[in-house]
Amino acid sequence: MWASEELRRLAQKNMELAKRSENGGNYKLAIKYYNKVAEILKAHIDLYPRHPLSKTYRRQIADIRERIKQLEILMLESGSGGQVAVAATPTHERTSKPAYLLDEGEKPNVRWEDVVGLEDAKRSIIESIVYPSRRPDLFPLGWPRGILLFGPPGCGKTMLAAAVVNEIDAYIFHIDAASIMSKWLGESERNIAAIFREAREYERRGKPVIILIDEVDALASTASQEVGGEIRMRRQLLKEMDGLLEKGHKRKIYVLGTTNTPWRLDIPFIRRFQKRIYVPPPDYNARVELFKMYSRPLKIDASVSFEKLAEMTRGYSGSDILDVCRDAHMRVIRELFERRGGKGEPRPITMDDFKAVLRSRKPSISPDILKRYEEWYRRYKAI
Ligand SMILES: Nc1ncnc2c1ncn2[C@@H]1O[C@H](COP(=O)(O)OP(=O)(O)O)[C@@H](O)[C@H]1O
Ligand SMILES: [Mg+2]
Repeated sequence: MWASEELRRLAQKNMELAKRSENGGNYKLAIKYYNKVAEILKAHIDLYPRHPLSKTYRRQIADIRERIKQLEILMLESGSGGQVAVAATPTHERTSKPAYLLDEGEKPNVRWEDVVGLEDAKRSIIESIVYPSRRPDLFPLGWPRGILLFGPPGCGKTMLAAAVVNEIDAYIFHIDAASIMSKWLGESERNIAAIFREAREYERRGKPVIILIDEVDALASTASQEVGGEIRMRRQLLKEMDGLLEKGHKRKIYVLGTTNTPWRLDIPFIRRFQKRIYVPPPDYNARVELFKMYSRPLKIDASVSFEKLAEMTRGYSGSDILDVCRDAHMRVIRELFERRGGKGEPRPITMDDFKAVLRSRKPSISPDILKRYEEWYRRYKAI
């Protein structure tokens, strides 16, 4: 991985130069360095398309392009060809509402009932968030403020987090880990501090505050690379999470994180997520329910047995099952278009349609991966 390291180091160096030039008012030079950073990150993506940070880098490039545009405008306005005496910091929109606070209308429209199965996970969430925020007096020993939902992809972590948001009347600060690392280009540390400050302010208004960090591993692992001060950002986040637990604080501020790859989290972060909740793949009963749910709006032939389908789909995630139903539906739609010119109604979906789909669509969760989650859970249960 020598080249990868090297590229990241180069990107970081150029980023520093870009910032220094920008702060010094030399926008022309800043643009040059920003372009370099974008090129280097692009090269990294091309070389290692499946690197865990590729998504982050893509955003970073988009943000850098945006930044370059802003600087070009500033240059035009100042008419100075890029040499301005005082760095005119681009005006930040100052609204009364913090940028990461979700409006009522922005809250995801997911309820507990929409989440199939996962009874244990739901109960854990209720016990660790809903009860203490309703009756803090019943928890003299305190309660967890850091809650981590972990498990294989496509099994409902994001969905559960969204349901919590609707289930308790709370202020929600939504942080997307990938964007936190890119957008702020080195300002992430200050912005983390600002988010927690705003969270404390809002909590004083009487409702709990949930800081939701989806795919927190992008932010809480050493694998995330230094391009713009991520180490300081991580330290700040740890400090803020500790602050939530300080003695005598009855604060109802929670950090709710989700991750598909808990093993990428650093130990200090694992420690701060005192409550770790496993979100497993759907069991037999949940799979029956999922097939029923996704088939409801479809026309289904009497030959279809949801129980049989559930038996055939061990290791399939909830999102795999959704795909299976979509694919089965696509077969009858395709037929309608190819054989009947798209006229009339599609025939009902049969068991054979489902079987054909299952032959080509394998489960996304292997027994090995499952073992890995269980091992991780056992290992970090105690800390
Ligand atoms: N337990 C479940 N109940 C209902 N739908 C589910 C469930 N698990 C997965 N799904 C479906 O799969 C999609 C992806 O789930 P998501 O919560 O984003 O997974 P994760 O965050 O664990 O990767 C959901 O939008 C939903 O359509
Ligand atoms: Mg998710």
